[in-house]
Amino acid sequence: NGWPLLRITIFGTGYVGLVTGACLAETGNHVVCVDIDADRVAQLSRGDVPIYEPGLDALVTGNVNAGRLTFTTDAEAAVAHGRLQFIAVGTPSDESGAADLQYVRQVADTIGRYMTEYRLVITKSTVPVGTADEVRATIRAALDARDVSPEFDVASNPEFLKEGAAIEDFMKPDRVVIGVDNERAADHLRALYAPYNRSRDRCMVMDIRSAELTKYAANIMLAAKVSMMNELAQISDRVGADIERVRTAIGADHRIGYHFIYPGCGFGGSCFPKDVRALGSTSKQHGYEPALLDAIEGVNMRQKRVLFERLQAHFGDLAGRTIGVWGLAFKPNTDDMREAPSRTLMEALWEAGASVRAFDPEATGEARRIYGDRADLALCDSALDAARDVDALVVVTEWHIFRSPDFDELKTLMAQPVIVDGRNIYEPDYLRREGFTYYGIGRAA
Ligand code: UGA
Repeated sequence: NGWPLLRITIFGTGYVGLVTGACLAETGNHVVCVDIDADRVAQLSRGDVPIYEPGLDALVTGNVNAGRLTFTTDAEAAVAHGRLQFIAVGTPSDESGAADLQYVRQVADTIGRYMTEYRLVITKSTVPVGTADEVRATIRAALDARDVSPEFDVASNPEFLKEGAAIEDFMKPDRVVIGVDNERAADHLRALYAPYNRSRDRCMVMDIRSAELTKYAANIMLAAKVSMMNELAQISDRVGADIERVRTAIGADHRIGYHFIYPGCGFGGSCFPKDVRALGSTSKQHGYEPALLDAIEGVNMRQKRVLFERLQAHFGDLAGRTIGVWGLAFKPNTDDMREAPSRTLMEALWEAGASVRAFDPEATGEARRIYGDRADLALCDSALDAARDVDALVVVTEWHIFRSPDFDELKTLMAQPVIVDGRNIYEPDYLRREGFTYYGIGRAA
């Protein structure tokens, strides 16, 4: 549609950097992705994608072969390449829960060390409000040290990708948040996103701090919905109601809606837990005690123990028991186990002297990486295999293939017909008729 191709550099080939790079290359831009990890760069240059994300493999391979997407460890060449420089490196939580900005600072310093002409430096990583100012100061200091002064702008352009649907989210975004402090930067980013805006303009241009806060605000609203539902499920259990009936009835109110009101065994992943803690920490730094933010996290931590407590209440002593676990990833369609409820469950089971037979369609490799070989963990090749001779079967992640298993076969395979359904994917009455002891989340009725 007439927009010129842009030269783009992306620092960080993690989840966000890689998806962003591949999608921007797909529409014709020339993208260089830079990472300090030489093995990763070599692997990606071969078109070998180290993370599981539907469609990403083909997108990376296609664009690498077309010459639009390259990977390098050469930061100087990368700074020379892109008029637009994205920072998409990790921002892990430090001990206090605040986002650790050391990698963001290193990239800003690198850009300042090598840039010789105008650069627009854009933070894509989830960073605390005020980080753009720090990026600017870091670049300025590096330029001053070289005694040069090419112009540059900083901008905030947070990403809203969901794992498992990241490419779709990038190509057809609900909105593109652009935080800038001048028109030049705004124009560059509008041009960059024009190809993804054909049906309607999704760009929302605002000041930098509002853009930075928008990222946290979106995730925190969603995390709050989930924790609220989980708290209602706890109450539901105790008063003898079925939270699934309650959910469908309240979701019909458009103001509440059906999204993100599924009760479960707690939220995990690389975003919600970290972002709730990081905004809490920012808030405290600015002198405000955030009562709700702390509660979102507290409820979630309690909820992640619900599956274990259910088993304990059923069996009393869990020592010597074998528990089947269906689902290890923090949600379906990913192999990501960061802060996954499966980990809380398995670690509590091991502590109590039980062993685990687990199956996940994508995450068993990740589980092996995290836990290594241990006698009390069998990583199985199929769902049915993970149910063999177990005292109870726990559904932790709602992968499609767990939805309608052969219950007759399950019952013959299992040592005891006990199912703990951490995602409410089964019909309690049906399972009870089939002879199972069934426990869901908030479904006492
Ligand atoms: C989340 C946001 O949804 C994205 O918009 C955002 O861009 C991303 O974080 C990010 O900051 O990078 P993601 O962490 O991939 O995406 O996963 P979600 O699909 O949001 O699920 C988060 C957790 O909430 C999962 O553990 C899921 O099982 C849980 N959840 C979700 C529920 O327990 N109930 C629900 O109704 C919905």
